[in-house]
Amino acid sequence: MAVGFLNKYDLDTPALIIDLDALETNIKTMANYFKTVKPGLRPHMKTHKIPMISHMQLEAGAIGVTCQTLGEAEIFAQAGIKNILVTNQIANDEKIRRLVGMSRWADVTVGVDALEVAKQISQAALAAKLTAKVAVEISMVRCGLQAGEPALKFVKQLVQLKGLKFMGLWAHEAGASSSFELGMEVSWQKRKEAHYRALDRFREAKHLIEKSGIPVKIFSAGYTATYDITAEYPEITDVQAGTYVFMDWPYRQLEGLDRFQQALTVLTTVISIPPHQKVLAYTDCGTKKISSEHTCDYSITVFPKIKGELGKHIEVTQLSEEHAHLKGAVNNLKVGDKIEFIPSHCCTTPPRYDAAYVVSGERVVGVWPILARDRHG
Ligand SMILES: Cc1ncc(COP(=O)(O)O)c(C=O)c1O
Repeated sequence: MAVGFLNKYDLDTPALIIDLDALETNIKTMANYFKTVKPGLRPHMKTHKIPMISHMQLEAGAIGVTCQTLGEAEIFAQAGIKNILVTNQIANDEKIRRLVGMSRWADVTVGVDALEVAKQISQAALAAKLTAKVAVEISMVRCGLQAGEPALKFVKQLVQLKGLKFMGLWAHEAGASSSFELGMEVSWQKRKEAHYRALDRFREAKHLIEKSGIPVKIFSAGYTATYDITAEYPEITDVQAGTYVFMDWPYRQLEGLDRFQQALTVLTTVISIPPHQKVLAYTDCGTKKISSEHTCDYSITVFPKIKGELGKHIEVTQLSEEHAHLKGAVNNLKVGDKIEFIPSHCCTTPPRYDAAYVVSGERVVGVWPILARDRHG
């Protein structure tokens, strides 16, 4: 008995869909760029939370993986991924135990910016006869230490701690200028100027530390909006781009980023077109199944876009918990139709699903569990 292919339009909804061809193209496009520059690509897995995708990125040439939480690093290390940088801090006993525990079997470096925590990690590591790898965050948008003397003073104390190995520095220079999130700046040149100012501070910290005789092996920064800016800044060792792999629609409007394709969608069914409302229709995908914030500014509410020709005539005007509200030429729709939404933020949509359906054209060719789905800490 022959087993036929499953068509994506036969899937129950809402369903998370990854377009394999677009995904592979994005991975290749980015990998090809990194073949032309000195730093490596250390793709951020927070966008997909799927080890299979990190393996594809590594296969294409990435030098390691960035995780945002220790819980994600635990899953990805178990999936065989090495050279993990956790671009975040940990600060409680349980996580310190987990970090030290995994230092026995995993290749993981975690962010630090508090001496108290660093001392605790060191003590726990020494007690376990292990060494924990740490990298110091230089403050740009959230946590981290001030570049210059504060960073130098901190690192000098850090390297005295016998249970730790100081690996280097990292930063997330989004929002490095005061009044706007840099990723929102459309012009590539303007983004470059602002980011280079931020990276100058970052590099100054590196030079001060090196001058004091402490080697800085990791000097990591950057993200999708700056991948070809940060990668061309001197001495950067690796760039932490995440979103490029799926590319949501607001982000793609930045100059140069339309070279990445939208690989992530949510399939949703039209459940009601109330005749008395004339221009409104509703589908079965609300905020519990798709993001409603902006990639680059969380304070702005932005709705998904409808994929394809339909999206030119119908827009999503509201998301409630289980409904998307559609407005426009809904006479092009009928109840039961399945349509696809392109998320406004592709990093916060996958954790709303257990698994993603992987499609090539309309054929479902795989089902990938979102293995780090609940690893928020
Ligand atoms: C520390 C860090 N690095 C890299 C990224 C990746 O950013 P993007 O998804 O825009 O490439 C993020 C995103 O939040 C981040 O917090």
